[in-house]
Amino acid sequence: MANKIGDRIADKSLTGEDEIICGCIDLSIEQFRTELKTHPSESFDDLLARTGAGKSCTACLLDLEYLYTSLPNRGDMPAANALQRKQPASTLTLKRRIYRFLDGLGLQVPYPLEGAAPILIGAGIEQRLTVANHSLMFEGNIAAPPIVYAVKVYDAQGNVRARQRHRIEMGESWRLNLTDMFPEEARANSFLTVGLMKVQWRFCAPGMRGNTRPQIEINARSGSCAVHTQRAGGLLERQVTLISHPTDQRVFLTIVNPTRRAMEGVFQYPVLDDDVEDIVPLSHQISVAAKGAAIHEITMDEMTASRVVGRPMGVRAVLNNPGYKMHVVYAAPDLGRFSIDHL
Ligand code: FES
Repeated sequence: MANKIGDRIADKSLTGEDEIICGCIDLSIEQFRTELKTHPSESFDDLLARTGAGKSCTACLLDLEYLYTSLPNRGDMPAANALQRKQPASTLTLKRRIYRFLDGLGLQVPYPLEGAAPILIGAGIEQRLTVANHSLMFEGNIAAPPIVYAVKVYDAQGNVRARQRHRIEMGESWRLNLTDMFPEEARANSFLTVGLMKVQWRFCAPGMRGNTRPQIEINARSGSCAVHTQRAGGLLERQVTLISHPTDQRVFLTIVNPTRRAMEGVFQYPVLDDDVEDIVPLSHQISVAAKGAAIHEITMDEMTASRVVGRPMGVRAVLNNPGYKMHVVYAAPDLGRFSIDHL
């Protein structure tokens, strides 16, 4: 194959000028360099559209992106990079041009961001908050300005367990053990309980956001998983489609409530296609304390479970306050491994 992406990018050996970078259109590095020189302010997407590079099998895309951002910083190329290249105004829609004009009038002010996530508590589980302010891939020394993260941890009933603040400079990262903030008895349970983590982060100066969004990582006895945090709120009702495999995995639903008001609602499942009319979704009550969290394991009677196994099944959450965040947690039967996603 013409392009062995990972190896060559890792050892930075994409330097032979006559080497073919896109085998589908026989484009050499030298020709790619010439394209960059003659169109120094062209966006990456426009360059691909114009030359046809990376448009067939797409195997070369990562190499092309690497060269697009790294070549301008070497030798006789104009000193520019992907972030500095502007899309020509003439290609923007009228709406975008108006927004760009208005953006240019205002003062740049950093604004705070926030996220909410569940904390899983049980035997053999260690959950961490992980944040980083590293340079974006291939972009040189471009990272976000220093950021201050403020973390609050609550138990399921909404009692504060811990508060932490931490400032991260450019190039730094921070990992905070969240499960350590809960009593030892809860961390020894063979069943899952849940807490709430609220995180707010504030940039100390205007700049780019980079890769600074907080992540949660869940480390268990047989594996780890992670997901980024998101702001809570927006909808009263949410639905997710799952495939039921009760002998291989357990499925939990979590709700975190960062608001000051308790919430009530239901989980309804299985929501099936119209062709299974005789299976009616059951409602399972859920209550979530203000600043608290709740967890529910999906269970069905034996007859229903045997009929929905291996087929898509909807699970609906309906709450009386839209300020919540919902996650789906898949677990190995022994709770030794997890996979988590947000809705
Ligand atoms: S190698 Fe570039 S598109 Fe196929």
